Amino acid sequence: MVEKIQQVAQELEAAALNNASELEQFRIAYMGRKGRIADLFDNLKQVAPEQRRQVGQELNSLKNRAQERFDQAQEQLASAAAGNAGEQAFDFSLPPVPNTLGTRHPLSLVRREIVRIFERIGFNVSEGPEMEDDWHNFSALNFPENHPAREMQDTFFLSADRQQLLRTHTSTVQVRLMETQKPPLRSIMPGRVYRNEAISARAHMVFHQVEGLYVDKNVSFADLKQTLYYFAKEMFGQDTQVRFRPSFFPFTEPSAEIDITCLICKGEGCNICKHTGWVEIGGSGMVDPAVLESSGIDPQEYSGFAFGMGIERITMLKYQIKDLRLFTENDVRFLRQFEGVI
Ligand code: DAH
Repeated sequence: MVEKIQQVAQELEAAALNNASELEQFRIAYMGRKGRIADLFDNLKQVAPEQRRQVGQELNSLKNRAQERFDQAQEQLASAAAGNAGEQAFDFSLPPVPNTLGTRHPLSLVRREIVRIFERIGFNVSEGPEMEDDWHNFSALNFPENHPAREMQDTFFLSADRQQLLRTHTSTVQVRLMETQKPPLRSIMPGRVYRNEAISARAHMVFHQVEGLYVDKNVSFADLKQTLYYFAKEMFGQDTQVRFRPSFFPFTEPSAEIDITCLICKGEGCNICKHTGWVEIGGSGMVDPAVLESSGIDPQEYSGFAFGMGIERITMLKYQIKDLRLFTENDVRFLRQFEGVI
């Protein structure tokens, strides 16, 4: 019996276990219910009782050894298979997948460019809240109560008494600046504004403006014109011309709308400029003395000019974008076109 055990032990060690079928043969031959080790266990009954204990122990360790060889071989085969699969899946000759970098939003690019242009002539940047009160949005800007000019700007009110609202223009920041700082003031104020309007290719309920304010002694309309000539040429190119059209705003007197030569047809006339050769980019004027006064600045001593322009409008002109809604749809096919523009 002991000899038989030794023989089986030797054979078991010599058995080849290099693939799945050899492994299976091994399992059946040694570990199966009718395998050789099971046979030996059956024969244990014939062993003399005084030897049975020892022989039983040897048989048990043989059984464990068979299990051990089987487990090791099985693990090796499995990891070799995984290694092969990994090698096949990884093709070192493939080009690397490029990192897809995000791009700046065209409105951010243009806002930054506007700010830089004005910073070069001594303007700083100011900001104010988007949730405003009646005073900063209307009253301080010389909109009389119940005046129809208030209806020009379809307002989102935040309170039933109409005292709290979402600002309809960035002119609110002018007021905040004049209330808190002494002239000379030279500031550019970009920001988001809200109007209760239906969304279309040309209008949106949320858009961006940039306000400019210059208050000092002896500021004149000539300063306003030169500043905006400079801006238009820097922004749109040296050939760009600016035209001022008389207009009305409660907070400026005199007031003018700012037009530039149509960039699409270079002034020849096309459907973007409705065949006039000119497109409007904003409003401007000399700050009304009543506005200076209500913000705590003496109109006898100081004068100032102000302007407000739409950032969407400027962006559309600069990049020839025909539909305002593209700015908020987040379509990467649109946004990616601004890659590389700094
Ligand atoms: N706040 C005006 C608007 O939203 C634009 C504007 C016009 C701003 C004239 C000004 C200005 O500062 O002087 O329509």
